[in-house]
Amino acid sequence: MAIRKIVMHPDPILEEQCEPVKVFDKKLTKLLNDMYDTMIEFDGVGLAAPQIGLNIQVAVVDIDDETGTIEMINPVVVETAGEMTDVEGCLSFPGLYGEVSRPETVKIKAQDRTGKFYKLEAEGFLARAILHEIDHLNGILFTSKVSRYIEEHELEGMEEE
Ligand code: CO
Repeated sequence: MAIRKIVMHPDPILEEQCEPVKVFDKKLTKLLNDMYDTMIEFDGVGLAAPQIGLNIQVAVVDIDDETGTIEMINPVVVETAGEMTDVEGCLSFPGLYGEVSRPETVKIKAQDRTGKFYKLEAEGFLARAILHEIDHLNGILFTSKVSRYIEEHELEGMEEE
């Protein structure tokens, strides 16, 4: 188990377009395991590679539901539908929360740790977490989408992505 250091805003790596992963090796497996450990350590529901200083298209999501941990390598949004506004946070912006509108459902295509392609459909909070992480891989931060910032006292047990 290895906890990586989280890169905080305004580190420029957080706003870079990440490079696709081409090699699916032991190093990638170790990275994914470390990213999971780091996300859990900091009570996040998702973590993207640039948040630990790597500009590659790798992200993990786990909202603690029946889906379990989603590992996304080179993910692409295939389709979205609907719209939903909810509160978001981000491990790279400690203590900052804001309302963000995102699609209510999403279909993605990505690769797993072995390089195998898979498709996934998600809705609600899971769709939100997935889209937040995919945004990270494109250098897009949730703060660019916030319509209203939320004071900490308005929150009840919010989780960070
Ligand atoms: Co984030």
